Amino acid sequence: MDRRLEGKVAIVTGAATGIGEAIAHKFAKEGAKVIVNSLPDDPIQDVVDAIKKYGGEAVPYAGDVSQEFHAQNCVQTAITAYGQLDILINNAGVFLATAETQDYPVDVFDDTVRMNIRSAFLMTKYALPYLQKSRGNIVSAGSEAGFNGIAQNTPYGGTKGWIHSFMKGVAVEQAKYCIRANCVCPGAIDTAWTRKEKGPMDSKMEKMLIQGTPMARRGTPEEVANVYAFIASSEASYVTGALWLVDGGVTVAKGAVGSDTPMWFRSEPQGELRLEHEQEGLDNKDTQTIK
Ligand SMILES: NC(=O)c1ccc[n+]([C@@H]2O[C@H](COP(=O)([O-])OP(=O)(O)OC[C@H]3O[C@@H](n4cnc5c(N)ncnc54)[C@H](O)[C@@H]3O)[C@@H](O)[C@H]2O)c1
Repeated sequence: MDRRLEGKVAIVTGAATGIGEAIAHKFAKEGAKVIVNSLPDDPIQDVVDAIKKYGGEAVPYAGDVSQEFHAQNCVQTAITAYGQLDILINNAGVFLATAETQDYPVDVFDDTVRMNIRSAFLMTKYALPYLQKSRGNIVSAGSEAGFNGIAQNTPYGGTKGWIHSFMKGVAVEQAKYCIRANCVCPGAIDTAWTRKEKGPMDSKMEKMLIQGTPMARRGTPEEVANVYAFIASSEASYVTGALWLVDGGVTVAKGAVGSDTPMWFRSEPQGELRLEHEQEGLDNKDTQTIK
């Protein structure tokens, strides 16, 4: 199963923490050379060093890819370092506040749209000429919230719905260049975002997200990274325009079905990747819980 991405060059945005960290490690383990992008004060170099320690290849790119300059330079880093680009993973995103819509701060709305939407657009735009040469593919971070919306962070759910439509459009438009474009759509994953002590969710939201999930637990970043690796690999050569759920069943569930799931079935798998920054994604950001 290993080395499905041998010889490929991949950019992973938002790769210093959480799901992105797991994708970067997983891709390196599968043989890809990885450009580890994240914000300058994220632990990017740590992730690069860890990948190298475990025998992989990676280079850092520190910069906010919602800015045109950084999106262009991030793509250029791949070309300068490795001469090609095969895979773009639009993983960067933020979850900065919980508040009902009437109370949602306008500046947080603007930041959420910029970080979640503008970054995916710019990275896709500047990566496409190289992906057309390599017949590569794009996988973007959608979400269960992009299907269903999410109460108390309605703008966030909206940004994920946008990503779903954006990738579908790119899939149809770019098929003539042999490019595939898909979304991986996680449910509640065990990063800073779903931990009340680490981010803006309160204990009620935290409890509800587990009760509403048939598997009655969060997913791990590695469980999500495993699906990214499959979709980005040639094993998924006929998969394009797909919104691929990795959500423990929450999207199809109705009500508090997780309460019936036995405790023994609820433990997170240990996995194989050695990750160090799974829950640090919001450490360097201002978050708000408005009631
Ligand atoms: N955690 C979940 O439950 C969940 C569920 C569904 C979808 N997702 C999606 O998965 C992705 C990763 O989420 P996570 O939970 O790992 O969060 P995280 O906060 O741990 O990771 C996101 C990383 O992206 C970085 N980042 C944000 N904006 C950036 C930008 N403009 N340029 C460069 N780096 C940027 C952040 O600093 C952070 O390091 C997001 O797109 C999110 O929408 C997460």
